Amino acid sequence: MKDNEARQVGRQIPITSDLDIVEARMAARTLAAKIGFTGANLVMIATAVSEVARNIVEYAKPGEVILSVIENGPRRGLEVVARDNGPGIPDVAQAMVDGYSTSRGLGLGLPGSRRLMDEFYVDSKAGKGTTVTMRKWVPEK
Ligand SMILES: Nc1ncnc2c1ncn2[C@@H]1O[C@H](COP(=O)(O)OP(=O)(O)OP(=O)(O)O)[C@@H](O)[C@H]1O
Ligand SMILES: [Mg+2]
Repeated sequence: MKDNEARQVGRQIPITSDLDIVEARMAARTLAAKIGFTGANLVMIATAVSEVARNIVEYAKPGEVILSVIENGPRRGLEVVARDNGPGIPDVAQAMVDGYSTSRGLGLGLPGSRRLMDEFYVDSKAGKGTTVTMRKWVPEK
């Protein structure tokens, strides 16, 4: 978080099951709409949140998704932190490549989510768990 930014936590959603993924997706969409996102941006945020939550269920449960409203001067945005204490990702750069999957998935969850959001950071090491932080700023009118 930079000096000129502020954050207010909105929701914290524990993630263990498919139902929790749905809950996180809906909560993100609701909070995003409340702070001014519309249309396709709401779909992009909901999609990215369900991908990172699904990764927790598939590889690292339990974990949590934390949704916050962020501000930088006049700009507002949504910050999504998805974190777990699972096995971690040994090679983050490799996990960010389209099509890379250890589970015969499409390997699009992480790289796809990065494209849907404005900012995207993965902090992970083998044995240390994973924290994905992603942000999207409300477009200026
Ligand atoms: N939270 C996590 N903990 C441990 N490993 C993870 C986590 N999230 C992702 N990974 C690893 O990173 C790889 C890439 O993740 P990504 O979501 O891009 O693809 P996928 O889950 O394999 O397939 P898809 O999401 O397209 O169904 C996964 O196969 C898995 O090895
Ligand atoms: Mg995935």
